[in-house]
Amino acid sequence: MIFTVAIDGPAAAGKGTISRAVAAQFGFAHLDTGLLYRAVGIKGGDPVQAARSLCDADLARGDLRTLGAGQAASVVAALPDVRAALTDFQRQFARRTGGAVLDGRDIGTVICPEAEMKIFVTASAEIRAHRRWLELGGDAAPQSIADVLAQVVERDARDTNRADAPLRPAAGALMLDTSDMDIDTAVDRATAAVMAQMRQKL
Ligand code: CDP
Ligand code: CDP
Repeated sequence: MIFTVAIDGPAAAGKGTISRAVAAQFGFAHLDTGLLYRAVGIKGGDPVQAARSLCDADLARGDLRTLGAGQAASVVAALPDVRAALTDFQRQFARRTGGAVLDGRDIGTVICPEAEMKIFVTASAEIRAHRRWLELGGDAAPQSIADVLAQVVERDARDTNRADAPLRPAAGALMLDTSDMDIDTAVDRATAAVMAQMRQKL
């Protein structure tokens, strides 16, 4: 059985949480494609070489989820040769037997336009920045909400305005605005939509 769920959207929209829940519910494999770009972004040296030689050790670093790694990722992610070096791996993952969920920015538009289910998860920048700030420790976070918001907005702009694989909803994507939705509701909506699509397609 081949069934790809493509989940795209801006930073802290809820993609990862929804992807993990959908993967667990249906027994699908999950790939957080942002980690590939984060690993390339913080490796240093020539990013194209880093993308071509990416290995498990690069993806096991403890600092991949920092704000700085997110910024570095979005800089190297604008380079077409970096994206090209990471494409085959993602496409093969998407079409593996047994089902796959991939989350990122271009899964439904570029990596797997034939995905059986596409979801575009979004929320206002203020709400997304607040979520990231809470993850960083809230009042104990090293950054203020304003700083986190500035970084989120800068990264969204870079991802949306780049020429190669810009962030945008894929044709036919289910739009899930989680601004006023708690995470459990968002997960339930996504899971129900995947279930309905599986009944129709399989
Ligand atoms: O993968 P992505 O960056 O899109 O987001 P995430 O890591 O799944 O979610 C970022 C944070 O926002 C997590 O702490 C989620 O629990 C939280 N979240 C939320 O509170 N309400 C939502 N509707 C979606 C996410
Ligand atoms: O978790 P969050 O949404 O904050 O970020 P991420 O998914 O880990 O992605 C980090 C950065 O990698 C994004 O801001 C994009 O610049 C880039 N990225 C991309 O270009 N294409 C993807 N499929 C995934 C991530």
